[in-house]
Amino acid sequence: MDKKKLAGEQAATYIEEGMILGLGTGSTVYWTIQKLGELVKQGLKIKGIPTSKATEHLARELGIPILDISEVQEIDLTIDGADEVNPDFALIKGGGGALFREKMVASLSRRLLIVVDDSKVVSTLGKFPLPVEVVPFGWEITSRNIARLGCSPKLRLHTAGPFITDNGNYILDCYFTEIQHPELLNEQLTKIIGVVETGLFVNMAEMIIVGGNDGVSVKST
Ligand code: A5P
Repeated sequence: MDKKKLAGEQAATYIEEGMILGLGTGSTVYWTIQKLGELVKQGLKIKGIPTSKATEHLARELGIPILDISEVQEIDLTIDGADEVNPDFALIKGGGGALFREKMVASLSRRLLIVVDDSKVVSTLGKFPLPVEVVPFGWEITSRNIARLGCSPKLRLHTAGPFITDNGNYILDCYFTEIQHPELLNEQLTKIIGVVETGLFVNMAEMIIVGGNDGVSVKST
């Protein structure tokens, strides 16, 4: 069975009546959202806060009630994917370019549950290039300043020019090889003028559901 599907569907078992739910982005949480759509059809009452326009579109198609983030003080549970997870549950996210909204939603959430397949579980972050969202104005300067932290940033491209995030910004994919101190690196990056947000999520995830060949395993902090 598809490992992403296994993990994504398992996460739906943590959803409870009345919850305000953060709805992540990507091909793993896609399966959670599909399951959630079925539960809503069967009568479950929840409200969802999407982390991207793509997820909002999917949720609306499935009849999942949506709230705007400005309408909530707190989110009960957010379920989202990740590109890498280390043993301390520090994450690299943003492979799909939704990192800013994902971090905003995660920051409001009482619990952040991450769904991944076993290829995403690593001992040290950094093999996956770290996505950093930057303001288009002067992005070359922002990129040079990021490079001083020991990486080579590459502007993410789309078919016709730069990839544009849901917030109208660019993404720099930063090739670090190894990120030994994710919290420190996140602080250093967010101090650089032009950086909107990074794909490093540290001390945020509470539970990881991993899909593997032998089924799912659940890890909690
Ligand atoms: C979206 O920007 C990302 O943070 C995704 O959550 C992450 O890339 C995982 O995506 P998949 O579940 O598609 O691998």
